Amino acid sequence: MTEKKSEKGLKTRPPVVVVLGHVDHGKSSLLEAIKDFRITSREAGGITQHIGAYEVEIKGKKITFIDTPGHEAFYAMRSRGAKVADIAILVVAAEEGVKPQTKEALGCIKEANIPAILAINKIDKPEANPQKVKSELAKENFLVEEIGGDIPVVETSAIKKIGIQELLEMILLVAEMQNLKVSEEVPAEGVIIESHLDEKRGIIANVLVKAGILKKQDFIATKTTCGKVKQLEDFLGRAVEQAEPSKPVSVLGFEALPQVGERFKVFETIKKAREYVIIKDKEQARTVVDEQKKLFKIIIKADVLGSLEAIKEMVNRLPQEDVLVQVIKSGAGLINEDDVQMAAATGAKIFGFHTAPNGLAAKLADQKNVEIFLYDVIYELLDALKKLIKAKLETEVVRKDIGKLKVLKVFRTEKDKQIVGGRITSGEVVNNSKLEIIRDDQIISQGKISQLQKERKKIEKGLAQDEVGILYHGREKIQEGDILQFYVEEQKKIEL
Ligand code: GTP
Ligand code: MG
Repeated sequence: MTEKKSEKGLKTRPPVVVVLGHVDHGKSSLLEAIKDFRITSREAGGITQHIGAYEVEIKGKKITFIDTPGHEAFYAMRSRGAKVADIAILVVAAEEGVKPQTKEALGCIKEANIPAILAINKIDKPEANPQKVKSELAKENFLVEEIGGDIPVVETSAIKKIGIQELLEMILLVAEMQNLKVSEEVPAEGVIIESHLDEKRGIIANVLVKAGILKKQDFIATKTTCGKVKQLEDFLGRAVEQAEPSKPVSVLGFEALPQVGERFKVFETIKKAREYVIIKDKEQARTVVDEQKKLFKIIIKADVLGSLEAIKEMVNRLPQEDVLVQVIKSGAGLINEDDVQMAAATGAKIFGFHTAPNGLAAKLADQKNVEIFLYDVIYELLDALKKLIKAKLETEVVRKDIGKLKVLKVFRTEKDKQIVGGRITSGEVVNNSKLEIIRDDQIISQGKISQLQKERKKIEKGLAQDEVGILYHGREKIQEGDILQFYVEEQKKIEL
């Protein structure tokens, strides 16, 4: 290793690289080509695991690549990727040039404030036009070195394996200028880059260490969960004793699935780790805040937490003025009986992304009339969700409270009917409106009125302070001292 130790105990860590760019421009192919080119070790004969990141070694130096998906729906993950990373590789297909997601990637890079390298990919194609790519990028203020900017360029072909070594050497060069030094003597900390539930092995969190050294037996916590590190594995699936800064590893031992993008820290005791956990139930917290809004409850399950995060992010971006899409439960894995039970109890609908209900859950859903929607494309899921919300709103009536009345006297009581008198204490009372009977601060029943009188004359509307008589229809008997809350219901329609 060429890592130098300085007086302050700081060591140079390998750079963490993220690959960004438009759909189909070759991000995955490039990452594959790099992996094939210089994987740290093949002697393990290991099939590389998908842990969201991997390491390569060139000229005795390591580079960590974050393997973020590139589709627009993965914006959340991508921007997270850029924040974890030290260097971004912008992949642009040589024959296609700058596309919408190329621009989005430029935004991510700018936001993360990290140096970039331009990889002009698919250089093997006859229509390849690297010059056009560079000038299009110049229009976006992304200036390559040859025209006076500071962005180095490498022309690559992921398929024909051209320019891969050059690209890796360029990364090392850019990294050298970055002075990536960290202390290994601090308690370990880092970021969760992926997490899922393995049926046999339990909760697996793939993490990237940012400082310190993560070791087996460490007490680890994020803001949402904690645990003891039972096992550490590198991306080749080999058990390791520890992970130094920039090393991606799988961690076994979390008590619950940590969220993608969360930071983790290591503590001296499990008690301290537990104290660090503050967000016990994020989704529940949100319910309380938004209770007054109309809710459209959903449960989301996805194959991996990364996709789940992306979907939740997109769901949160839906217009939410008139209706709040509330994710009451979400998680990675199959749709199970618990999900269905919860949906049945709350009236929620279940959305699955790259997953399906298990046998029991499917049967239960049938019995309980719980709707399950399954998708493999995020946009289709979102479209379906929007349509469902719209359909719901079209048939939905929106309640509007209009006024309150304090009952002073009950004049007459018949079966399902009463004539009562009282004073309007706030708002107004409109004939034919509905009401709730409130007794000792509790809503005890509902009903409606079919006549409103003031000073023995029929009126259509009574105002605050008016003393009025009403003809009430309802099962529950009104008593003196009750408060009547009047409301009207309106049809409401919104466009999403
Ligand atoms: P998303 O993950 O969908 O955003 O796409 P991506 O950017 O990861 O692209 P991917 O690597 O899946 O490549 C898309 C297509 O381009 C595939 O059919 C690849 O085989 C092809 N491709 C990628 N790199 C090259 C290249 O260097 N040359 C040629 N000719 N084809 C390439
Ligand atoms: Mg891809």
